[in-house]
Amino acid sequence: MVKIVEKRQLTPITKLYRVEAPLIARAARAGQFVIVRVREGGERIPLTITDYDRDSGLLTIVVQEVGATTRRLGLLEEGEEILDMVGPLGEAPEIPAGGHIVGVGGGYGSAALLCLMRELKERGERTTIIMGAREKELLILADELAAICDNLEICTDDGSAGFKGFVTERLQQMIDGGPPGYPDYVIAIGPMPMMRAVEKTTAAAGVACAASLDPLMIDGTGMCGGCRVTIDGEVKFACVDGPFFDAHQVDFDEAVQRSKMYTKEEQQAAECQRAAAGAA
Ligand SMILES: Cc1cc2nc3c(=O)[nH]c(=O)nc-3n(C[C@H](O)[C@H](O)[C@H](O)COP(=O)(O)OP(=O)(O)OC[C@H]3O[C@@H](n4cnc5c(N)ncnc54)[C@H](O)[C@@H]3O)c2cc1C
Ligand code: FES
Repeated sequence: MVKIVEKRQLTPITKLYRVEAPLIARAARAGQFVIVRVREGGERIPLTITDYDRDSGLLTIVVQEVGATTRRLGLLEEGEEILDMVGPLGEAPEIPAGGHIVGVGGGYGSAALLCLMRELKERGERTTIIMGAREKELLILADELAAICDNLEICTDDGSAGFKGFVTERLQQMIDGGPPGYPDYVIAIGPMPMMRAVEKTTAAAGVACAASLDPLMIDGTGMCGGCRVTIDGEVKFACVDGPFFDAHQVDFDEAVQRSKMYTKEEQQAAECQRAAAGAA
């Protein structure tokens, strides 16, 4: 059981939790994730370690409610407990030193950049974060992100905050503008279409790019095959070999196709969960 000591509503569908998980907090490295179960018999879902504090033993996770399990998690309040949490899982990414490192985040991916970009800055790197959302109200942790990087660029589709347009358009401007904004290394975390677009933008400019893939995961130990991805023609498992991969080597067509495998079942689970919440 993992006790929730703080809950914060970031957007209508995004919540931040600070939980007591001293063993995980002690071993965690930026870029790793945990797998949680909310109830007995429930599915196991992967969530990125947004932040960790080894001294207090607290772990921060940010949850975007997209289906049955994330909504069920969203119902838990301060003082309540998450049934179980396994981690840290996955490999921390190896980002080469030097140059200008640009983290591009969308959705929960902006939160997932927090401790990773902070550690890169602490290592002495020059860092920019480009975060995107449909509108101002959906931006998450902008103040926290601004505090841990050299430059925060906000993009909204409707122009309600920052640059009006997609994160990739702002990234393209930085590429076209040359130094000092020119990115030497890009890290993309967010929805698959965004990561795919970031890959295309950086590939055209010959800029190195890592993407944190988020395929369906079940056991998180490399045994079930659920998170299979193809990288440079080779089979890899995102839970043990990733989640970060060289974006230019990812077979995104296959990754998108595999992520839709259980759409029908996910819709059924969401309908059952909504019906149960309505009856409660
Ligand atoms: C390594 C890793 C780290 C992740 N970190 C976070 C995080 O920090 N915060 C967070 O909110 N989510 C994170 N996710 C995604 C999260 O695990 C899924 O959103 C969750 O499993 C959905 O479960 P559900 O039952 O609520 O929705 P489901 O019913 O399973 O899915 C509902 C809909 O959500 C979308 N969806 C499902 N799985 C994913 C996925 N893996 N990525 C994106 N969209 C998905 C699909 O459109 C699907 O139809 C991460 C995924 C991975 C693999
Ligand atoms: S989640 Fe089962 S192999 Fe990766």
